[in-house]
Amino acid sequence: MSKIGIFGAGWVGLVTGACFAELGHTVVIRDVATERIEPLQQGDLPFYEPELADVVERNRHRLTFTLDPAEAAGDAEFLYVCVGTPSTYSGDANLSYVWSVLDDLPELDGRPVLVMKSTVPVGTGEKVRSALDARGLEHIGYASNPEFLSEGTAIRDFMHPDRIVIGAFEPADGDRVEELHESLEAPIVRSDVGSAEMIKLAANAFLMTRISFINEIANVCELVGADVQEVARGVGLDHRLGPHFLRAGIGYGGSCFPKDASALKQLASNSGYHFQLLSAVIEVNELQKRRVVAKLVKHLGKLRGKRVALLGLAFKPNTDDMREAPSIVLASRLLAEGAEVRGWDPVAEPGELLKGVEISGTVAEAVKDADAAVIVTEWDELRALASPEIRNSMRTPLIVDGRNVLDPNAVRKAGFAYEGIGRASSPLVDFPRPQSPSTGSSE
Ligand code: UDX
Ligand code: UDX
Repeated sequence: MSKIGIFGAGWVGLVTGACFAELGHTVVIRDVATERIEPLQQGDLPFYEPELADVVERNRHRLTFTLDPAEAAGDAEFLYVCVGTPSTYSGDANLSYVWSVLDDLPELDGRPVLVMKSTVPVGTGEKVRSALDARGLEHIGYASNPEFLSEGTAIRDFMHPDRIVIGAFEPADGDRVEELHESLEAPIVRSDVGSAEMIKLAANAFLMTRISFINEIANVCELVGADVQEVARGVGLDHRLGPHFLRAGIGYGGSCFPKDASALKQLASNSGYHFQLLSAVIEVNELQKRRVVAKLVKHLGKLRGKRVALLGLAFKPNTDDMREAPSIVLASRLLAEGAEVRGWDPVAEPGELLKGVEISGTVAEAVKDADAAVIVTEWDELRALASPEIRNSMRTPLIVDGRNVLDPNAVRKAGFAYEGIGRASSPLVDFPRPQSPSTGSSE
Protein backbone atom coordinates (compact mmCIF):
# COMPACT_ATOMS: atom_id res chain seq x y z
CA MET A 1 0.00 0.00 0.00
CA SER A 2 1.24 3.49 -0.84
CA LYS A 3 0.98 7.05 0.39
CA ILE A 4 -0.74 9.26 -2.19
CA GLY A 5 -0.95 13.06 -2.17
CA ILE A 6 -3.89 14.51 -4.12
CA PHE A 7 -3.90 18.15 -5.24
CA GLY A 8 -7.46 19.43 -5.81
CA ALA A 9 -10.46 18.33 -3.75
CA GLY A 10 -13.00 18.74 -6.54
CA TRP A 11 -15.09 16.02 -8.16
CA VAL A 12 -12.13 14.24 -9.63
CA GLY A 13 -9.77 14.74 -6.67
CA LEU A 14 -12.26 13.68 -4.00
CA VAL A 15 -13.55 10.64 -5.87
CA THR A 16 -10.01 9.58 -6.82
CA GLY A 17 -8.72 10.06 -3.27
CA ALA A 18 -11.64 8.30 -1.62
CA CYS A 19 -11.38 5.34 -4.00
CA PHE A 20 -7.62 4.98 -3.54
CA ALA A 21 -8.27 4.93 0.23
CA GLU A 22 -10.92 2.28 -0.41
CA LEU A 23 -8.22 0.25 -2.17
CA GLY A 24 -6.17 0.49 1.01
CA HIS A 25 -3.80 3.34 0.24
CA THR A 26 -3.09 6.23 2.61
CA VAL A 27 -4.38 9.43 1.02
CA VAL A 28 -3.87 13.10 1.86
CA ILE A 29 -6.02 15.51 -0.19
CA ARG A 30 -4.90 19.11 -0.45
CA ASP A 31 -6.92 22.01 -1.76
CA VAL A 32 -6.15 25.74 -1.76
CA ALA A 33 -9.72 26.67 -0.81
CA THR A 34 -10.39 26.81 2.94
CA GLU A 35 -14.14 26.63 2.22
CA ARG A 36 -13.47 23.32 0.49
CA ILE A 37 -11.16 21.76 3.10
CA GLU A 38 -12.79 22.83 6.38
CA PRO A 39 -16.16 21.13 5.73
CA LEU A 40 -14.30 18.00 4.58
CA GLN A 41 -12.33 17.98 7.86
CA GLN A 42 -15.74 18.10 9.61
CA GLY A 43 -17.00 15.19 7.52
CA ASP A 44 -19.20 17.25 5.17
CA LEU A 45 -18.95 16.77 1.41
CA PRO A 46 -18.97 19.92 -0.79
CA PHE A 47 -21.22 18.37 -3.44
CA TYR A 48 -23.73 15.58 -4.08
CA GLU A 49 -22.26 12.38 -5.57
CA PRO A 50 -23.93 9.00 -4.91
CA GLU A 51 -21.94 6.61 -2.63
CA LEU A 52 -19.10 9.11 -2.06
CA ALA A 53 -20.13 9.90 1.53
CA ASP A 54 -20.09 6.19 2.45
CA VAL A 55 -16.68 5.60 0.86
CA VAL A 56 -15.20 8.65 2.61
CA GLU A 57 -16.75 7.62 5.95
CA ARG A 58 -15.61 4.00 5.58
CA ASN A 59 -12.01 5.11 4.96
CA ARG A 60 -11.73 8.07 7.32
CA HIS A 61 -8.69 6.47 8.99
CA ARG A 62 -6.82 6.50 5.67
CA LEU A 63 -8.01 9.90 4.45
CA THR A 64 -6.70 13.33 5.48
CA PHE A 65 -7.76 16.76 4.18
CA THR A 66 -5.35 19.70 4.33
CA LEU A 67 -4.49 23.13 2.99
CA ASP A 68 -0.80 22.33 3.47
CA PRO A 69 0.97 21.04 0.31
CA ALA A 70 3.82 19.66 2.40
CA GLU A 71 1.40 17.47 4.36
CA ALA A 72 0.09 16.04 1.09
CA ALA A 73 3.43 15.65 -0.65
CA GLY A 74 5.67 14.71 2.28
CA ASP A 75 6.65 10.98 2.03
CA ALA A 76 4.17 10.55 -0.80
CA GLU A 77 5.08 8.06 -3.54
CA PHE A 78 2.47 9.54 -5.87
CA LEU A 79 1.40 13.18 -6.31
CA TYR A 80 -1.95 13.26 -8.15
CA VAL A 81 -2.84 16.53 -9.90
CA CYS A 82 -6.65 16.96 -9.92
CA VAL A 83 -7.00 20.71 -10.08
CA GLY A 84 -9.38 22.48 -12.43
CA THR A 85 -8.33 23.11 -16.04
CA PRO A 86 -11.11 25.50 -17.06
CA SER A 87 -11.29 27.19 -20.46
CA THR A 88 -9.58 30.52 -21.09
CA TYR A 89 -11.35 33.13 -23.25
CA SER A 90 -9.55 31.74 -26.31
CA GLY A 91 -10.92 28.28 -25.59
CA ASP A 92 -7.51 26.93 -24.57
CA ALA A 93 -7.27 24.97 -21.34
CA ASN A 94 -6.13 27.18 -18.45
CA LEU A 95 -3.16 25.37 -16.90
CA SER A 96 -2.30 28.02 -14.32
CA TYR A 97 -3.58 25.84 -11.46
CA VAL A 98 -1.41 22.97 -12.66
CA TRP A 99 1.62 25.23 -12.50
CA SER A 100 0.65 26.45 -9.04
CA VAL A 101 0.73 22.83 -7.84
CA LEU A 102 4.34 22.62 -9.04
CA ASP A 103 5.12 25.93 -7.31
CA ASP A 104 3.67 24.58 -4.08
CA LEU A 105 5.69 21.34 -4.06
CA PRO A 106 8.04 21.18 -1.04
CA GLU A 107 11.55 19.65 -1.07
CA LEU A 108 10.99 15.97 -1.87
CA ASP A 109 13.28 12.96 -1.42
CA GLY A 110 13.18 9.62 -3.18
CA ARG A 111 11.39 9.38 -6.54
CA PRO A 112 7.74 10.32 -6.12
CA VAL A 113 5.72 10.22 -9.36
CA LEU A 114 3.71 13.30 -10.32
CA VAL A 115 0.55 11.93 -11.94
CA MET A 116 -1.69 14.12 -14.12
CA LYS A 117 -5.38 13.23 -13.71
CA SER A 118 -6.72 16.65 -14.71
CA THR A 119 -7.68 16.83 -18.37
CA VAL A 120 -4.91 18.69 -20.17
CA PRO A 121 -3.97 19.43 -23.79
CA VAL A 122 -1.55 17.09 -25.53
CA GLY A 123 2.00 18.24 -24.82
CA THR A 124 1.33 19.30 -21.23
CA GLY A 125 3.28 16.35 -19.90
CA GLU A 126 6.33 17.44 -21.88
CA LYS A 127 6.03 20.95 -20.48
CA VAL A 128 5.64 19.71 -16.91
CA ARG A 129 8.65 17.39 -17.34
CA SER A 130 10.85 20.26 -18.53
CA ALA A 131 9.54 22.53 -15.75
CA LEU A 132 10.40 19.90 -13.14
CA ASP A 133 13.88 19.44 -14.62
CA ALA A 134 14.37 23.21 -14.82
CA ARG A 135 13.65 23.34 -11.06
CA GLY A 136 16.19 20.63 -10.33
CA LEU A 137 13.40 18.12 -9.72
CA GLU A 138 14.66 15.52 -12.18
CA HIS A 139 14.17 12.92 -9.44
CA ILE A 140 10.39 13.39 -9.60
CA GLY A 141 8.78 11.01 -12.10
CA TYR A 142 5.87 11.90 -14.35
CA ALA A 143 2.88 9.98 -15.66
CA SER A 144 -0.45 10.79 -17.31
CA ASN A 145 -3.42 8.84 -15.86
CA PRO A 146 -6.58 10.48 -17.23
CA GLU A 147 -9.95 10.04 -15.53
CA PHE A 148 -13.13 8.77 -17.20
CA LEU A 149 -15.45 9.50 -14.28
CA SER A 150 -19.05 10.49 -15.02
CA GLU A 151 -20.80 12.52 -12.37
CA GLY A 152 -23.54 10.55 -10.67
CA THR A 153 -21.68 7.24 -11.22
CA ALA A 154 -18.13 8.39 -10.39
CA ILE A 155 -17.42 5.86 -7.63
CA ARG A 156 -18.53 2.95 -9.80
CA ASP A 157 -16.61 4.37 -12.78
CA PHE A 158 -13.40 4.46 -10.70
CA MET A 159 -13.84 1.05 -9.10
CA HIS A 160 -15.01 -0.66 -12.31
CA PRO A 161 -13.27 1.22 -15.13
CA ASP A 162 -13.52 0.19 -18.80
CA ARG A 163 -9.75 0.72 -18.97
CA ILE A 164 -6.94 2.39 -17.06
CA VAL A 165 -4.78 4.61 -19.25
CA ILE A 166 -1.18 5.26 -18.20
CA GLY A 167 1.35 7.27 -20.18
CA ALA A 168 4.87 7.74 -18.81
CA PHE A 169 8.27 8.92 -19.99
CA GLU A 170 10.02 6.29 -17.83
CA PRO A 171 8.42 2.81 -18.03
CA ALA A 172 9.29 2.25 -14.35
CA ASP A 173 7.12 5.23 -13.37
CA GLY A 174 4.28 3.76 -15.44
CA ASP A 175 4.78 0.38 -13.75
CA ARG A 176 4.38 1.97 -10.33
CA VAL A 177 1.16 3.75 -11.32
CA GLU A 178 -0.08 0.44 -12.73
CA GLU A 179 0.67 -1.31 -9.42
CA LEU A 180 -1.43 1.33 -7.65
CA HIS A 181 -4.48 0.03 -9.54
CA GLU A 182 -3.61 -3.68 -9.32
CA SER A 183 -6.72 -4.57 -7.32
CA LEU A 184 -8.96 -3.10 -10.04
CA GLU A 185 -10.01 -5.46 -12.82
CA ALA A 186 -9.61 -3.54 -16.08
CA PRO A 187 -7.45 -3.54 -19.21
CA ILE A 188 -4.37 -1.39 -18.76
CA VAL A 189 -3.51 0.87 -21.71
CA ARG A 190 0.20 1.75 -21.45
CA SER A 191 1.34 4.37 -23.93
CA ASP A 192 3.48 7.42 -24.36
CA VAL A 193 2.40 10.54 -22.47
CA GLY A 194 1.10 12.46 -25.49
CA SER A 195 -1.11 9.59 -26.63
CA ALA A 196 -2.49 9.12 -23.12
CA GLU A 197 -3.41 12.81 -23.04
CA MET A 198 -5.07 12.48 -26.45
CA ILE A 199 -7.01 9.33 -25.45
CA LYS A 200 -8.88 11.39 -22.88
CA LEU A 201 -9.66 14.30 -25.22
CA ALA A 202 -10.59 12.02 -28.13
CA ALA A 203 -12.82 9.83 -25.94
CA ASN A 204 -14.80 12.84 -24.72
CA ALA A 205 -14.94 14.34 -28.20
CA PHE A 206 -16.28 11.07 -29.64
CA LEU A 207 -18.95 10.83 -26.93
CA MET A 208 -20.02 14.39 -27.79
CA THR A 209 -20.03 13.50 -31.49
CA ARG A 210 -22.44 10.64 -30.82
CA ILE A 211 -24.74 13.00 -28.92
CA SER A 212 -24.72 15.73 -31.59
CA PHE A 213 -25.18 13.07 -34.27
CA ILE A 214 -28.26 11.54 -32.66
CA ASN A 215 -29.62 15.04 -31.98
CA GLU A 216 -29.33 15.88 -35.68
CA ILE A 217 -30.96 12.56 -36.58
CA ALA A 218 -33.73 13.51 -34.17
CA ASN A 219 -34.20 16.87 -35.89
CA VAL A 220 -34.56 15.09 -39.24
CA CYS A 221 -36.93 12.53 -37.70
CA GLU A 222 -39.25 15.39 -36.72
CA LEU A 223 -39.39 16.53 -40.35
CA VAL A 224 -39.88 13.07 -41.92
CA GLY A 225 -42.15 11.54 -39.27
CA ALA A 226 -39.74 8.95 -37.80
CA ASP A 227 -39.15 8.31 -34.06
CA VAL A 228 -35.56 8.82 -32.88
CA GLN A 229 -36.00 6.43 -29.96
CA GLU A 230 -36.81 3.64 -32.40
CA VAL A 231 -33.96 4.75 -34.62
CA ALA A 232 -31.45 4.80 -31.75
CA ARG A 233 -32.59 1.32 -30.68
CA GLY A 234 -32.14 -0.06 -34.19
CA VAL A 235 -28.77 1.65 -34.67
CA GLY A 236 -27.49 0.75 -31.20
CA LEU A 237 -27.92 -2.98 -31.76
CA ASP A 238 -25.12 -2.88 -34.31
CA HIS A 239 -22.16 -4.36 -32.43
CA ARG A 240 -19.91 -1.92 -34.27
CA LEU A 241 -21.87 1.01 -32.76
CA GLY A 242 -23.51 -0.04 -29.43
CA PRO A 243 -26.41 1.73 -27.66
CA HIS A 244 -24.54 4.17 -25.42
CA PHE A 245 -24.66 7.96 -25.83
CA LEU A 246 -27.43 7.79 -28.41
CA ARG A 247 -30.03 9.53 -26.23
CA ALA A 248 -31.39 12.51 -28.16
CA GLY A 249 -32.24 15.55 -26.09
CA ILE A 250 -31.56 19.24 -25.67
CA GLY A 251 -27.79 18.91 -25.74
CA TYR A 252 -24.87 18.05 -23.53
CA GLY A 253 -23.45 20.19 -20.71
CA GLY A 254 -21.30 19.63 -17.66
CA SER A 255 -17.87 20.39 -16.25
CA CYS A 256 -16.00 18.41 -18.86
CA PHE A 257 -17.57 18.06 -22.31
CA PRO A 258 -17.91 21.74 -23.29
CA LYS A 259 -14.46 22.74 -22.03
CA ASP A 260 -12.74 19.63 -23.38
CA ALA A 261 -14.35 20.17 -26.79
CA SER A 262 -13.09 23.73 -27.01
CA ALA A 263 -9.66 22.71 -25.64
CA LEU A 264 -9.28 20.01 -28.33
CA LYS A 265 -10.54 22.31 -31.08
CA GLN A 266 -8.11 25.00 -29.94
CA LEU A 267 -5.27 22.51 -29.63
CA ALA A 268 -5.88 21.44 -33.25
CA SER A 269 -6.00 25.01 -34.57
CA ASN A 270 -2.89 25.97 -32.52
CA SER A 271 -1.22 23.11 -34.38
CA GLY A 272 -2.48 24.38 -37.76
CA TYR A 273 -5.47 22.08 -38.27
CA HIS A 274 -9.16 23.10 -38.51
CA PHE A 275 -11.10 20.33 -36.70
CA GLN A 276 -14.27 20.60 -38.81
CA LEU A 277 -16.17 17.68 -37.29
CA LEU A 278 -15.64 18.87 -33.72
CA SER A 279 -16.60 22.42 -34.69
CA ALA A 280 -19.87 21.06 -36.04
CA VAL A 281 -20.43 18.95 -32.91
CA ILE A 282 -20.07 22.08 -30.75
CA GLU A 283 -22.33 24.19 -33.01
CA VAL A 284 -25.04 21.50 -33.20
CA ASN A 285 -25.04 21.32 -29.41
CA GLU A 286 -25.48 25.07 -28.99
CA LEU A 287 -28.39 25.07 -31.48
CA GLN A 288 -29.99 22.02 -29.86
CA LYS A 289 -30.36 23.80 -26.50
CA ARG A 290 -32.31 26.54 -28.28
CA ARG A 291 -34.70 24.33 -30.31
CA VAL A 292 -37.04 24.12 -27.31
CA VAL A 293 -37.95 27.78 -27.85
CA ALA A 294 -39.30 27.10 -31.35
CA LYS A 295 -41.29 24.14 -30.02
CA LEU A 296 -42.91 26.40 -27.41
CA VAL A 297 -43.67 29.14 -29.96
CA LYS A 298 -45.28 26.50 -32.23
CA HIS A 299 -47.90 25.81 -29.55
CA LEU A 300 -48.08 29.07 -27.62
CA GLY A 301 -47.23 31.72 -30.22
CA LYS A 302 -45.36 34.72 -28.85
CA LEU A 303 -43.80 33.80 -25.49
CA ARG A 304 -44.09 37.30 -24.01
CA GLY A 305 -46.17 36.95 -20.81
CA LYS A 306 -46.28 33.17 -21.05
CA ARG A 307 -45.22 31.18 -17.98
CA VAL A 308 -42.76 28.34 -18.62
CA ALA A 309 -41.62 25.80 -16.01
CA LEU A 310 -38.14 24.31 -16.49
CA LEU A 311 -38.04 20.95 -14.74
CA GLY A 312 -34.52 19.74 -13.88
CA LEU A 313 -31.72 22.33 -13.81
CA ALA A 314 -28.51 20.34 -13.14
CA PHE A 315 -26.62 19.39 -16.30
CA LYS A 316 -27.74 15.79 -15.80
CA PRO A 317 -29.57 13.70 -13.18
CA ASN A 318 -27.98 12.40 -9.93
CA THR A 319 -25.75 15.45 -9.54
CA ASP A 320 -26.20 19.00 -8.27
CA ASP A 321 -23.64 20.29 -10.79
CA MET A 322 -24.85 23.30 -12.80
CA ARG A 323 -21.64 23.74 -14.79
CA GLU A 324 -22.56 24.43 -18.45
CA ALA A 325 -26.07 23.12 -17.77
CA PRO A 326 -28.38 23.46 -20.83
CA SER A 327 -31.01 24.92 -18.44
CA ILE A 328 -28.90 28.09 -18.16
CA VAL A 329 -28.97 28.80 -21.91
CA LEU A 330 -32.64 27.85 -22.23
CA ALA A 331 -33.69 30.05 -19.31
CA SER A 332 -31.91 33.10 -20.66
CA ARG A 333 -33.41 32.54 -24.13
CA LEU A 334 -36.90 32.35 -22.65
CA LEU A 335 -36.37 35.44 -20.49
CA ALA A 336 -35.11 37.26 -23.58
CA GLU A 337 -38.38 36.31 -25.31
CA GLY A 338 -40.30 37.96 -22.44
CA ALA A 339 -41.50 34.73 -20.86
CA GLU A 340 -41.85 34.29 -17.10
CA VAL A 341 -39.63 31.37 -16.15
CA ARG A 342 -39.82 29.05 -13.16
CA GLY A 343 -37.30 26.36 -12.34
CA TRP A 344 -37.26 23.19 -10.24
CA ASP A 345 -34.50 20.75 -9.36
CA PRO A 346 -34.37 18.19 -6.52
CA VAL A 347 -30.77 19.02 -5.49
CA ALA A 348 -29.16 21.73 -7.64
CA GLU A 349 -29.07 25.30 -6.27
CA PRO A 350 -28.48 27.49 -9.32
CA GLY A 351 -28.30 30.82 -7.45
CA GLU A 352 -26.96 33.61 -9.70
CA LEU A 353 -26.65 31.24 -12.68
CA LEU A 354 -30.41 31.46 -13.17
CA LYS A 355 -30.96 35.12 -12.38
CA GLY A 356 -34.56 36.12 -13.21
CA VAL A 357 -35.83 32.55 -12.84
CA GLU A 358 -38.23 31.87 -9.92
CA ILE A 359 -37.00 28.67 -8.22
CA SER A 360 -39.86 26.43 -7.01
CA GLY A 361 -39.66 23.91 -4.18
CA THR A 362 -41.80 21.28 -5.90
CA VAL A 363 -42.78 20.25 -9.41
CA ALA A 364 -46.44 21.06 -8.62
CA GLU A 365 -45.47 24.56 -7.53
CA ALA A 366 -43.40 25.10 -10.67
CA VAL A 367 -46.15 24.09 -13.10
CA LYS A 368 -49.07 25.80 -11.31
CA ASP A 369 -50.78 28.11 -13.85
CA ALA A 370 -47.93 27.49 -16.27
CA ASP A 371 -48.39 27.49 -20.06
CA ALA A 372 -45.77 24.82 -20.53
CA ALA A 373 -43.65 22.35 -18.60
CA VAL A 374 -40.25 21.59 -20.11
CA ILE A 375 -38.33 18.50 -18.98
CA VAL A 376 -34.71 19.72 -19.10
CA THR A 377 -33.00 17.08 -16.90
CA GLU A 378 -34.36 13.54 -16.73
CA TRP A 379 -34.81 13.21 -12.96
CA ASP A 380 -36.79 10.08 -12.10
CA GLU A 381 -39.49 12.13 -10.36
CA LEU A 382 -40.49 13.59 -13.73
CA ARG A 383 -41.50 10.25 -15.20
CA ALA A 384 -44.89 10.71 -13.50
CA LEU A 385 -45.34 14.29 -14.71
CA ALA A 386 -48.34 13.70 -17.01
CA SER A 387 -50.91 13.36 -14.21
CA PRO A 388 -54.46 14.80 -14.03
CA GLU A 389 -53.40 16.95 -11.06
CA ILE A 390 -50.59 18.53 -13.07
CA ARG A 391 -52.85 18.98 -16.12
CA ASN A 392 -55.58 20.63 -14.07
CA SER A 393 -53.15 23.01 -12.36
CA MET A 394 -51.55 24.20 -15.60
CA ARG A 395 -52.93 27.15 -17.59
CA THR A 396 -52.04 25.32 -20.81
CA PRO A 397 -51.32 21.57 -20.54
CA LEU A 398 -48.27 21.49 -22.78
CA ILE A 399 -45.27 19.25 -22.03
CA VAL A 400 -41.99 19.65 -23.91
CA ASP A 401 -40.06 16.47 -23.13
CA GLY A 402 -36.48 17.62 -23.68
CA ARG A 403 -35.10 14.21 -22.69
CA ASN A 404 -37.72 11.87 -24.22
CA VAL A 405 -38.48 10.28 -20.85
CA LEU A 406 -42.27 10.15 -21.26
CA ASP A 407 -44.48 7.95 -23.43
CA PRO A 408 -46.06 10.32 -26.00
CA ASN A 409 -49.29 8.26 -26.23
CA ALA A 410 -49.77 8.21 -22.47
CA VAL A 411 -49.17 11.96 -22.31
CA ARG A 412 -51.70 12.57 -25.06
CA LYS A 413 -54.24 10.30 -23.36
CA ALA A 414 -53.74 12.29 -20.16
CA GLY A 415 -54.87 15.40 -22.05
CA PHE A 416 -51.56 17.14 -22.63
CA ALA A 417 -50.05 18.44 -25.81
CA TYR A 418 -46.70 16.72 -26.29
CA GLU A 419 -43.44 17.77 -27.88
CA GLY A 420 -40.47 15.40 -27.66
CA ILE A 421 -37.09 15.47 -29.38
CA GLY A 422 -37.24 13.62 -32.68
CA ARG A 423 -40.69 12.21 -32.00
CA ALA A 424 -44.20 12.80 -33.27
CA SER A 425 -45.76 15.78 -31.48
CA SER A 426 -49.39 16.27 -30.57
CA PRO A 427 -51.35 19.52 -30.59
CA LEU A 428 -53.26 21.06 -27.73
CA VAL A 429 -56.65 19.44 -27.41
CA ASP A 430 -59.81 20.66 -25.73
CA PHE A 431 -59.85 18.51 -22.58
CA PRO A 432 -62.67 18.64 -19.97
CA ARG A 433 -61.29 20.15 -16.76
CA PRO A 434 -62.87 20.08 -13.36
CA GLN A 435 -64.86 23.19 -12.53
CA SER A 436 -62.75 25.61 -10.46
CA PRO A 437 -64.68 26.11 -7.17
CA SER A 438 -64.53 29.95 -7.29
CA THR A 439 -65.67 30.70 -10.83
CA GLY A 440 -67.70 27.53 -11.47
CA SER A 441 -66.24 27.74 -14.96
CA SER A 442 -63.35 25.69 -16.33
CA GLU A 443 -60.56 28.23 -16.71
C1 UDX B 1 -11.22 19.03 -12.69
C2 UDX B 1 -11.02 19.51 -14.09
O1 UDX B 1 -11.95 20.50 -14.30
C3 UDX B 1 -11.13 18.44 -15.08
O2 UDX B 1 -10.73 18.86 -16.34
C4 UDX B 1 -10.20 17.41 -14.78
O3 UDX B 1 -10.38 16.38 -15.63
C5 UDX B 1 -10.31 17.01 -13.37
O4 UDX B 1 -10.35 18.03 -12.42
P1 UDX B 1 -13.29 18.82 -11.21
O5 UDX B 1 -12.73 17.96 -10.17
O6 UDX B 1 -14.72 18.70 -11.52
O7 UDX B 1 -12.52 18.64 -12.58
O8 UDX B 1 -12.92 20.36 -10.88
P2 UDX B 1 -13.32 21.20 -9.66
O9 UDX B 1 -14.55 20.62 -9.04
O10 UDX B 1 -13.28 22.60 -10.11
O11 UDX B 1 -12.14 20.95 -8.58
C6 UDX B 1 -10.89 21.45 -8.70
C7 UDX B 1 -10.38 21.70 -7.26
O12 UDX B 1 -9.03 22.11 -7.34
C8 UDX B 1 -11.15 22.83 -6.55
O13 UDX B 1 -11.61 22.38 -5.30
C9 UDX B 1 -10.11 23.93 -6.38
O14 UDX B 1 -10.24 24.66 -5.18
C10 UDX B 1 -8.82 23.12 -6.38
N1 UDX B 1 -7.64 23.89 -6.76
C11 UDX B 1 -7.69 24.74 -7.80
C12 UDX B 1 -6.46 23.70 -6.00
O15 UDX B 1 -6.44 22.96 -5.04
N2 UDX B 1 -5.34 24.40 -6.38
C13 UDX B 1 -5.37 25.29 -7.40
O16 UDX B 1 -4.34 25.90 -7.68
C14 UDX B 1 -6.57 25.47 -8.14
C1 UDX C 1 -18.31 13.01 -18.96
C2 UDX C 1 -17.77 11.68 -19.47
O1 UDX C 1 -18.83 10.76 -19.57
C3 UDX C 1 -16.71 11.16 -18.53
O2 UDX C 1 -16.11 9.99 -19.07
C4 UDX C 1 -15.61 12.20 -18.38
O3 UDX C 1 -14.63 11.77 -17.53
C5 UDX C 1 -16.20 13.48 -17.89
O4 UDX C 1 -17.22 13.93 -18.74
P1 UDX C 1 -20.12 13.77 -17.21
O5 UDX C 1 -19.84 15.14 -17.72
O6 UDX C 1 -20.22 13.56 -15.77
O7 UDX C 1 -18.99 12.76 -17.78
O8 UDX C 1 -21.52 13.35 -17.83
P2 UDX C 1 -22.10 12.40 -18.98
O9 UDX C 1 -22.89 11.34 -18.36
O10 UDX C 1 -21.06 12.03 -19.94
O11 UDX C 1 -23.12 13.43 -19.68
C6 UDX C 1 -22.60 14.59 -20.24
C7 UDX C 1 -23.74 15.35 -20.90
O12 UDX C 1 -24.18 14.63 -22.07
C8 UDX C 1 -24.96 15.55 -20.01
O13 UDX C 1 -25.46 16.85 -20.20
C9 UDX C 1 -25.95 14.51 -20.56
O14 UDX C 1 -27.29 14.93 -20.38
C10 UDX C 1 -25.60 14.49 -22.05
N1 UDX C 1 -25.93 13.23 -22.73
C11 UDX C 1 -25.27 12.08 -22.37
C12 UDX C 1 -26.86 13.24 -23.78
O15 UDX C 1 -27.45 14.28 -24.11
N2 UDX C 1 -27.14 12.05 -24.43
C13 UDX C 1 -26.50 10.89 -24.10
O16 UDX C 1 -26.81 9.86 -24.74
C14 UDX C 1 -25.55 10.90 -23.04
